[in-house]
Amino acid sequence: MNLTTETSFSPGDKLVVASHNSGKVREIQELLEPFGLEILSAGDLGAPEPEETGDTFEANARLKAHASAQFTNLPALADDSGFCVAGLEGAPGIYSARWAGTDKNFSVAMSRINDQLGTQEDRTAWFVCCLSIAWPTGKSLTFRGEVWGDIAWPPRGNKGFGYDPMFQPNGHAITFGEMEPHIKHSMSHRAHAFRLFVDSCLRR
Ligand code: IMP
Repeated sequence: MNLTTETSFSPGDKLVVASHNSGKVREIQELLEPFGLEILSAGDLGAPEPEETGDTFEANARLKAHASAQFTNLPALADDSGFCVAGLEGAPGIYSARWAGTDKNFSVAMSRINDQLGTQEDRTAWFVCCLSIAWPTGKSLTFRGEVWGDIAWPPRGNKGFGYDPMFQPNGHAITFGEMEPHIKHSMSHRAHAFRLFVDSCLRR
C-alpha cells in the first residue's frame, strides 16, 4: 500500500471536520481554502458527538476524529485545545471550556485562575491545540501546537475569545485579546498545529 497516498490529500478530496461547533468548522474551512478540498461538517452529516473522555488533548482530538471517520466512512479532522497555567500544574488544560460553566462565562474562568494563582511569582502560561486526522481504516495522525507567554492581570482586550484577554505571548507587549486576529492567527497554537498537518498531509 502506498502510505503517502493513504495519508495525503489532493484538491477535490473529501474531508469531514469533526466538530459540531459551526464557528470551528468555518475557521478550519477558511484555513483549508487554498487546498481545494471538499469540506463537510460532522454535524451536518449526522455524526454523533462523542464524550471527551480522554485525559490528554491528543486523546480527545483522536477520539473525536475516529468517531466521525467511522460514522461517515471518510477521513475526519478534529481539534482539541485549551489554556494551561504553570502555577496551576497545567490547569485548566483539557477542562478549559468546562471552567467557564454552561453559560460559557470566561470572566468567571479567568478570575478563578487569577484567584488560584494568588501571589505566585511564576506567571507562565501556554495554549495547546491538538489536531487529529483519522481515516476509516483506523489509522490516525496527531499534531500538537503550542504558544507560550505570561498571565496578564487584569484581562485586557476584546478582540479574541475565551482566555485571550489574560494571555500575553512571549515577545509581545499586548494580550491575544488586544491583538489583531490575523496576527494572532499567524502565531497561535492552532496555527502551529495546522502547519504541521499541512506539511505532512496536504498537497497544493
Ligand atoms: P474545545 O472546543 O474543547 O477544544 O475547548 C477549547 C477551550 O479552550 C475553549 O473553550 C477556550 O476556552 C480555550 N481556548 C482554546 N483556544 C483558545 C484561544 O485561541 N483563545 C482563547 N481561548 C482558547
